[in-house]
Amino acid sequence: MKALILSGGRGTRLRPITHTSAKQLVPIANKPILFYALEAIAEAQIREVGIVVGETKLEIQEAVGDGGRWGLRVSYIEQEAPLGLAHAVKIAGVFLGDDPFVMYLGDNLVKDGIRSLVAEFKQLQPNSQILLAKVRDPQRFGVAELRNGRVVSLEEKPPNPKSDLALVGVYMFDKTIFEAVHAIKPSSRGELEITDAIQYLIDKGYRVHPHVISGWWKDTGKLEDMLEANRIMLEAITSRVEGEVDEASQIIGKVIVEEGANIVASAIRGPVIIGKRCRIINSYIGPFTSIYHDTLVQNSEIEHSIILDHSRITDIGGRLEDSLIGKSVEVFRSDGKPRAYRLMLGDSSQVGLV
Ligand code: G1P
Repeated sequence: MKALILSGGRGTRLRPITHTSAKQLVPIANKPILFYALEAIAEAQIREVGIVVGETKLEIQEAVGDGGRWGLRVSYIEQEAPLGLAHAVKIAGVFLGDDPFVMYLGDNLVKDGIRSLVAEFKQLQPNSQILLAKVRDPQRFGVAELRNGRVVSLEEKPPNPKSDLALVGVYMFDKTIFEAVHAIKPSSRGELEITDAIQYLIDKGYRVHPHVISGWWKDTGKLEDMLEANRIMLEAITSRVEGEVDEASQIIGKVIVEEGANIVASAIRGPVIIGKRCRIINSYIGPFTSIYHDTLVQNSEIEHSIILDHSRITDIGGRLEDSLIGKSVEVFRSDGKPRAYRLMLGDSSQVGLV
């Protein structure tokens, strides 16, 4: 069995972060989202992985390399434009050959992994196995309608969903999916939809086995989803202090302080993770915050946020909450006259002022 990870796409709902970086590399609890997928695949005993990449190809390649770190053999497949998930399967034909495979969307997080799901697919040998999860906002997803435990219809982002069962971004297929991706036509949004390809399998009488998952799952397409994913992953950490914490600082609850980080005269209330070589000085870092490597926080308060690497948050006065701050961002108090907000923000930035 092989794995196909989809790591292209433009990440429009996460701009401006995704103007410059791949959404699949945003760290959740200080680990790029994509690495969770690679770990889950390795844990399911799959070794051959193809990663479909687009505009952010170089960045993904640099982060993942040849996959040796996870015991995987990774090849890269270039998609010239985001033409849909079924299009990605089409162009991965040479890599996949006749092998059954799991397709994993690189921005999805499945907390309990996919080991037992892959075992179930191998045992039952349907033409496809889809994962479904009950959601509150099915309009945002592919939606399945089940009757007597069988899938009768699938619709991509329907305005009036027939159920609350969303398609999770992890699918298993045998080679019949190629017949489907070659037969279907682009949807109204101009993409070859995997949902339509699976509907084709159903219409032709192929076996599509649904598995409704009960564990936590997230498509991390939006800011709120990122923060929720960060919360869930931080809840599962085990405390570890590899950096330095001075006597004047207080660490409460589950906190990871990575190598080379320095905590000075600060209060850290977990669950929190502080990345390598970060400096936290005279500050408060509250629950559900992840601070990635080489960031400085001084005379500031942060809670329930994700801060990326090489940023500087200093003397901000108020408390930063529910925020996603990109790489090399500076947030500071400005004493210049006249007294005013002075901003340099990228396209599609969002700023909430008090
Ligand atoms: C894709 C699929 C959708 C699925 C979702 C899961 O949507 O088209 O059926 O429910 O992934 O993450 P996208 O997030 O690419 O819009």
